[in-house]
Amino acid sequence: MTDYAAGAAYMDGAYMPVAECRIPVLDWGFLRSDATYDVAHTWQGRFFRLDEHLDRFERNIARLRYSIPYDRDAIEEILHGCVARADLQDAFVEMLVTRGIPQGRDPRTATNRFAVFAVPFVWILRPERHDDDGLNVIISSIERIRAQAVDPTVKNYHWLDLVRGLFEAYERGGETAVLIDSRGNVLEGPGFNLFVIRDGVAATPAAGVLEGVTRQTAIELLERRGVRLELRDVHADELRGADEAVATSTAGGVMPIASVDGRRLPGGEIGPRLLADYWAAHADDVWATPVRYTQPAGAR
Ligand SMILES: Cc1ncc(COP(=O)(O)O)c(C=O)c1O
Repeated sequence: MTDYAAGAAYMDGAYMPVAECRIPVLDWGFLRSDATYDVAHTWQGRFFRLDEHLDRFERNIARLRYSIPYDRDAIEEILHGCVARADLQDAFVEMLVTRGIPQGRDPRTATNRFAVFAVPFVWILRPERHDDDGLNVIISSIERIRAQAVDPTVKNYHWLDLVRGLFEAYERGGETAVLIDSRGNVLEGPGFNLFVIRDGVAATPAAGVLEGVTRQTAIELLERRGVRLELRDVHADELRGADEAVATSTAGGVMPIASVDGRRLPGGEIGPRLLADYWAAHADDVWATPVRYTQPAGAR
């Protein structure tokens, strides 16, 4: 019996334990960060907003001129196949495409590689820290890679700015960072979008960020509650002076921000309500796709 306890993966036509799934060193996905990916999650045995993740993934594959021999149904089947093999109820499910290995230096000659893996759910902030606590963020001095160079709406592995932000955060007594643009507006952090709340009004950066599925969910949930929401530039001083702020990510959902640059935010009602609404939304059948745990006979 194959041991999928730590997670299951699919690559080059076969399922395997996640630890055995390896990208060859010559693949441009590794050598050039020439790749796109998406991360969905399952919660209590159901995918959350899977269509939105698949829409974004397929759009980004096209934008970066990859082509893979899997249609949407086939991709979906493999996502189910990995979660089923890993036997996970709450899973972090990543799908990715790399350029592959070109002949010479012409990326058009490469056969693109497709892979999927499912591992236990990942938390940027563990739920036991949701009440009376939250993320301690710093506003980084590092600018996010410019959108004109690497389009942040195409989910990508160009993370050196974000990783530098993390190290800056550790040095300054924080645990994660929010990166800025050249005009001092906050954008996003390593794996999350940002909402700033002041005097009952929520704001989130309109552009220059990944259009996160959790961000979109938060937008819809805030609108349902009748909270005024602004999509616009958000200056770093607004985050420093916020009543409340939250980070949003598939890896952890809606996460309260406790402090910014060492100053504790006063707190309020909107963030905790959004957090509760986010997890309650997982019971909504419209956004849920049950995992097909019973795999077809003969599937490895
Ligand atoms: C840079 C960046 N911003 C935002 C997000 C949040 O996106 P989502 O809510 O779709 O997980 C991610 C997720 O990994 C990310 O990498």
